[in-house]
Amino acid sequence: MPNLVPSGLLIGHATIDSQHGRLFALIDELRAARNSADPLVEYRLSCKALYELLDYTRTHFAEEERLMQEAGYPGYEDHKREHERFVLLMGEVEEDMHLGTSVLSVDFFCDLLEKWLKEHIQEIDRQYVPYLVPAAADAA
Ligand SMILES: [Fe+2]
Ligand SMILES: [Fe+2]
Repeated sequence: MPNLVPSGLLIGHATIDSQHGRLFALIDELRAARNSADPLVEYRLSCKALYELLDYTRTHFAEEERLMQEAGYPGYEDHKREHERFVLLMGEVEEDMHLGTSVLSVDFFCDLLEKWLKEHIQEIDRQYVPYLVPAAADAA
């Protein structure tokens, strides 16, 4: 899967940049899943892509929190709270999808996640990079 992180959003940490790239790639995959000619295939691919995206977002947050904690980053609690707020929203989206009561279209959710992610990387993620231990910052 190509790394699709927009160049202005690279934060200079190989692991995190590649995880961010995968998140943007998964958003694109979810959008692409909606272009299938067969509606049943479209539904199945969309569900698979959506759950993969939600799951990987949680994995990424957990990994970032681990690195910040390891580095003793002073903004850890605030940053974690930002993640938790978004995880809560994702949980609601997931539940609505299960219940079939979602008022969100997939496109709307993709736009929302993409916008949130870009702002979060630009303003919040960027701040912890100087605190990470150099060895971790060099690791792929
Ligand atoms: Fe991040
Ligand atoms: Fe983050």
